[in-house]
Amino acid sequence: MIQVKNLSKHYPDKIALDDISLDFPAEETTAIVGPSGSGKSTLLQALNLLERPNSGLLTIDDLHLDLANPLTNNQILQIRQKTAMVFQEKALFTHLTVLKNLTEGPIKVQKKSKAAAEKKAQELLEQFGMTELKNRYPYQLSGGQQQRVAILRALAMEPKYLLLDEPTSALDPELEAQVLRVLKDLAQKNTSMIIVTHNMSFAEQVADQIVFIDNGSVGYQGPTDGFFHSTETRIKKFLGAMSF
Ligand SMILES: Nc1ncnc2c1ncn2[C@@H]1O[C@H](COP(=O)(O)OP(=O)(O)OP(=O)(O)O)[C@@H](O)[C@H]1O
Ligand SMILES: [Mg+2]
Repeated sequence: MIQVKNLSKHYPDKIALDDISLDFPAEETTAIVGPSGSGKSTLLQALNLLERPNSGLLTIDDLHLDLANPLTNNQILQIRQKTAMVFQEKALFTHLTVLKNLTEGPIKVQKKSKAAAEKKAQELLEQFGMTELKNRYPYQLSGGQQQRVAILRALAMEPKYLLLDEPTSALDPELEAQVLRVLKDLAQKNTSMIIVTHNMSFAEQVADQIVFIDNGSVGYQGPTDGFFHSTETRIKKFLGAMSF
C-alpha cells in the first residue's frame, strides 16, 4: 500500500496540496480525478518524489519517510524502484527501437543482463499484441502505439506501483480507446495502479476507488460507485461539468 499523511505542497504563491491524507491499496486501481489545477499531478508526482512536498509522511509498503526531513539518495532510489511513472506526453527514447526502449532501463538502471531484459521485453510485447513493432523507431509508430510502448517500458522495470498522469489526453478517441484497453487489462490482472484521468467513463468502469482532488484538498476518497452516485453538491457539480 502507498499511504500519504498530512501531505502539503506550497509554491510561493499557491498551496497546491493542503494537508492531504490518502491510501492507495496494492493490487487495486485508484483513479485521481478533479478540476484542472486542483493538484492531481502534484499529488501523483509527490508519490515518487518527482515533486518534493514540504511536509507529510509517505509510506510505500514497509518504507516510511518523513518528508519534512532531508531524504537520502538511497531512500529516493527505493521509492523509485517500487514505482514507475507514465506521463501524458509519451517520452520514448527517439533514437532507440521499441525493443531497446523496453530494455534500456532494466539493463542500465537495474543491471539486468541483456538476455534477461530482452526476454522480459519480448514477453510484454507478446502479451499486449505488439511484437511486430519491436524493431521500429518511435517516429514509425502512431501516437497510440507510442503511448502503449511507454506503458510497457514502465512495466519492463517491474514496478510494484504504476503511476499514470493522463496517459491518453494527447490522443484522439480511437487511439485513446487502444490505450485504455491496455490499462483495463492491467487493472483486471490486479496491477497496482494510480491513474490521473479526465475520462469519467473509464474511471467508472475500471477504478476500484476514486480520489477526488478539489482545490488542493481531498473532496472524496472511497468506492467508485459511491463517487458516481454521490449526492454531494461539489461532486455532482464536477460530474455535471464533465458531461454534456
Ligand atoms: N512550479 C510551480 N510553481 C507554482 N505553481 C505551480 C507549479 N506547478 C503547479 N503549480 C500550481 O499548483 C496547482 C496544482 O497544479 P497541478 O499541475 O497539480 O494541477 P492538475 O490538477 O494536475 O491540473 P491539470 O488537470 O490541468 O493537469 C495549480 O494551481 C498550478 O498552477
Ligand atoms: Mg495535471
